[in-house]
Amino acid sequence: MKFKAVRLYNEDGRRVSRMVEQSLDDLDPGDVVIQSKFAAVNYKDARAVTGVDKVITRYPCIPGVEVAGVVVESKDPTFRAGDVVTVQGGRDFGMRRDGGYSEYVRVPAEWVGRVPEGTDPFESVAMGLAAYTSALAVEELLNRGVTPDKGPVLVTGGTGGSSSFAIDMLAGLGYHVVASTGKAAEHAYLRNIGASEIVGRDGIAGGGKPLEDQRWAGAIDAVGGKPLDQLLRSMQQRGVVCAFGNAASETLNTSIYPFILRGVTLTGINGNHPVPERGSAWTRMQPGGDLRPRHIRTIAYTIAFDDLKTHCDKLIASGVRGRAVVKFA
Ligand SMILES: NC(=O)c1ccc[n+]([C@@H]2O[C@H](COP(=O)([O-])OP(=O)(O)OC[C@H]3O[C@@H](n4cnc5c(N)ncnc54)[C@H](OP(=O)(O)O)[C@@H]3O)[C@@H](O)[C@H]2O)c1
Repeated sequence: MKFKAVRLYNEDGRRVSRMVEQSLDDLDPGDVVIQSKFAAVNYKDARAVTGVDKVITRYPCIPGVEVAGVVVESKDPTFRAGDVVTVQGGRDFGMRRDGGYSEYVRVPAEWVGRVPEGTDPFESVAMGLAAYTSALAVEELLNRGVTPDKGPVLVTGGTGGSSSFAIDMLAGLGYHVVASTGKAAEHAYLRNIGASEIVGRDGIAGGGKPLEDQRWAGAIDAVGGKPLDQLLRSMQQRGVVCAFGNAASETLNTSIYPFILRGVTLTGINGNHPVPERGSAWTRMQPGGDLRPRHIRTIAYTIAFDDLKTHCDKLIASGVRGRAVVKFA
């Protein structure tokens, strides 16, 4: 059997991806073979496909950290042909082991999770790491006492895949959500998914002083760098910032004052847990849960497998709105 996959090669230090024809023998070993139906396009995946960053640490390798589809064969009795499953959040899948940008994938059984009841492979991947990481951040705000009555919550990188789900979930719980964005043309989209107010990327803090007006009770940050510094300087007393991204920069230059004078907390969120290891945040975002996003099909949309490379170029160059999902034929 022959099928299509995107493989990333290291050619004299240059990372180059190509659509190639494969057979199962070309894939890394594993107990479960899955026919892919949908695969997510995360920021990390776009960096891998375009070769702009060392997301992939073994060459050649198939990128794509999230896929959903149907089991074709399994050497592990946990799964049978026909089971509808997903692989997402593994530490190696699509980075050190062949991943999801392939019409068939082969993985260890412990990486495979069932697509939860009441949902489908598209929704499972459309939400994926983006919604799960946002759910972890929202849970963290709640656990640290930032409830909707405490004041506005800022979400940076507003139109991005992860941030869109954060906005949706927070609004669903009754928070006053302020989205920051660099896309002036997407304000209607942000309001549609739950933002009450919108600020520009440079409009997070009033000015450049180490402490500015206290605006935010909580924040979810997808971008790091200067916007993260701005929001730390404009947090309310005992405000909480949940940071998970580096779309602006992986470096943070800030002062100690928000922490020692306002008791601000900066906490990191890591969503890279395989589905079988996910806890309450994963359960709460399934149908009927209080973190179930209400706008999955507004935030996520499908693209053809053949258009993946073009889409990734666009995402890296200018950012795109929401979350693309590769639909396999
Ligand atoms: N820690 C974890 O477990 C985890 C999990 C998921 C994602 N992440 C990280 O979270 C970030 C977002 O991921 P994603 O998949 O949601 O990406 P995405 O869909 O590409 O969204 C990123 C958004 O950030 C904003 N942005 C882009 N470049 C920027 C810049 N130079 N300065 C300021 N803002 C900029 C844009 O939103 P606006 O145009 O609206 O401002 C963009 O849409 C990435 O850094 C990713 O690696 C981490």
